[in-house]
Formats: sequence, structure tokens, C-alpha cells
Amino acid sequence: MSGTILEKPRLVFKESDQYGSKITLSRRKEIGMEKVVNILGFAGSLRKNSYNKALLRAALELVPKDARLEIFDLDGIPPFNQDLENQPSEKVKEFKAKIRAADAILIATPEYNYSIPGVLKNAIDCASRPYGDNAFEHKPVAVMGASTGMMGTARAQYHLRQSFVFLTCFALNQPEVMVPFAQEKFDKEGKLTDQKTREKIKELLEDLVAWTKRLKQE
Ligand code: FNR
Repeated sequence: MSGTILEKPRLVFKESDQYGSKITLSRRKEIGMEKVVNILGFAGSLRKNSYNKALLRAALELVPKDARLEIFDLDGIPPFNQDLENQPSEKVKEFKAKIRAADAILIATPEYNYSIPGVLKNAIDCASRPYGDNAFEHKPVAVMGASTGMMGTARAQYHLRQSFVFLTCFALNQPEVMVPFAQEKFDKEGKLTDQKTREKIKELLEDLVAWTKRLKQE
């Protein structure tokens, strides 16, 4: 017997329908199967040498052939003030437009005090308002995160997943990419050198693309 019982099932996009017939080209076009999946990625850190920004840069190298990844910098998003939610700044308008244009979202979150950084929560709050104009509505979303601690952002990621419920995001459950002791996983230039983490990010991206395509199926 090959493999171990710890192996997790992977999302595989079906090449045939429920009767085993090959899906025709026209049907593929109809359901968006041949389309490139556009992913918008952002990190919950403003730090120049952020490990989470570096995770996203690694993702750029690992993105599948049928997908594109664009990185958005949260720097410049003002603190949310509900009195002004109907007059969003240009940066918030841009952020919301990019989220809406994307087929899927990839978030790299640090862990601050066992939760997500205020910068990330603030950006999500800004993009989700005013009520009825939530840019994240029904978006497929995947999460990863790096921290210098031993839990690799696990606690922050579960807090983030809680917000996805109200945002109505379709979160990819697995794989969980939690990178502990980040200071040991990147070189001085901020390149991700840890092979296992690179493989996990590749898997995450492949599954996000499959998840996004599956959600587009009727
Ligand atoms: C941290 N850090 C941290 N790490 C962790 O594993 N769990 C935690 O709860 C916290 N809390 C925390 C709070 C605050 C305010 C700071 C500034 C830092 C350490 C954190 O993992 C480390 O600074 C990372 O490098 C932050 O991510 P970026 O900026 O490198 O992406």
C-alpha cells in the first residue's frame, strides 16, 4: 500500500461530467473552465521586509499556468470611520475594484497578539462597507501566514476565517499554510528557501484555482 493515512484528499477539477463523458470545449467555455483564474493577493503587514509579503512573492513564482497573481499593497488605506463610509478614499476604491475584478483572493496574514494585525482587519472592514457594497461577497479565498513564533499564525488564521463567515467568502479549508519560525525559512533577500513551505504554497494555489473553477460550475 502506498501513502499514509495522514495524506489528505486534494481538490481535483473534473475533466469529465458525472457520466464519465469528456467535457466538450464549448461546455468548458460556458462554465469558464478554460479561463485564466485571476487571483488578488495581499499581506497584512506594511513592513518592508515582511515575511508575509515575502510569502506572496514566493507565490508569484509558484502560481499554476492557468492562473495569474497580482499583489496589492495595503499601505495607504486610512483607518475606517463609519461616518465617512460613503466617501471612500481613492485607495479604498482601488482596493475594492481589484477585489471585485479578481476571481479569487489570497491573504498572507501575520499574527499579532494571537490575532490578525489591525492593518489587515481595517482593510477588510473598509472593503466590506457600506452595507450592501461588500467587495468580498461570494469570493473564493485562501489563507497563508508566517510568524516568528512556533504556531505559524494558526490563531490569527482562525480569527480571519471567522470574518469570512460574515463576508460570505468561500474559504478554501485546506491545505493550511502556517509557517512557524519564519526567520529560518527565508534568505537575506527575503526569498523563501524552505522547500516544504514552497511545496505547500504551490498546493494551496493549485487547490484555490480548482476551488474557484468548481464554484463557477453550474
Ligand atoms: C508579533 N509577533 C507574534 N508572533 C506570533 O507568532 N504570535 C503573536 O501573537 C505575535 N504577536 C505579535 C504582536 C506584535 C504587535 C508584533 C509586532 C509582532 C511576531 C510576528 O510573528 C513577527 O513580527 C512577524 O515578522 C510579523 O510578520 P511580518 O511583518 O514579517 O509579515
